[in-house]
Amino acid sequence: MQIFIDTANIHEIKEATKMGIIDGVTTNPTLIAKENRPAEDLLKEICALVPGPVSAEVISLETEGMIKEARQLSKISSNIVIKIPLVKAGLKAVKILSHEGIKTNVTLCFSPSQALLVAKAGADYVSPFVGRLDDISQPGMDLIRDIKTIYKNYGFRTKIIVASVRNPLHVVDAALLGADVATVPFSVIEQLIRHPLTDIGIQRFLDDYKKIPKK
Ligand code: G3P
Repeated sequence: MQIFIDTANIHEIKEATKMGIIDGVTTNPTLIAKENRPAEDLLKEICALVPGPVSAEVISLETEGMIKEARQLSKISSNIVIKIPLVKAGLKAVKILSHEGIKTNVTLCFSPSQALLVAKAGADYVSPFVGRLDDISQPGMDLIRDIKTIYKNYGFRTKIIVASVRNPLHVVDAALLGADVATVPFSVIEQLIRHPLTDIGIQRFLDDYKKIPKK
């Protein structure tokens, strides 16, 4: 499974990249707004740091506007993927952009029927939001399982990005279900690393090392 980092924060991206575990980046207007910098400058810097796909979201709700924004954003770097909301206008935009060779990630997916249409439209990625479904007492991972089955049944090539990841179990479940990608906030990446038995084990080795007679 590929791991993308779900952030627009340069420090977090650099830290995760140094660990060698990051295959790409996803951003959205909420994440970009936190950085208090012009979006284009920020995206350019992110694209230079990470060779993999970097998702940048359009804000237009009309097909024409989405396409215009997508063409503009895709000039920033060859690894930009255009994030498009899952609405009728968005599916139309995906169809046109895929013919132009511009990669798309259809976001805010909450149902298997939506995911089916995203694949039919020819998107490169679909982003089902597991955390936000959990928030309303609908198991987000059930959606991933359903999309996996549908895409496998028909050989759709659209990749599943498990998004709205809130905890390490989301990442493990995504991997167990065979999701293509999980996009993970930096705080959850840190949680994934830690284990209390690792810390206890390190401390014991350090304590025991002190007992070794010195020459
Ligand atoms: O990848 C989408 C993500 O940024 C949304 O996460 O936690 O706001 O539902 P969240």
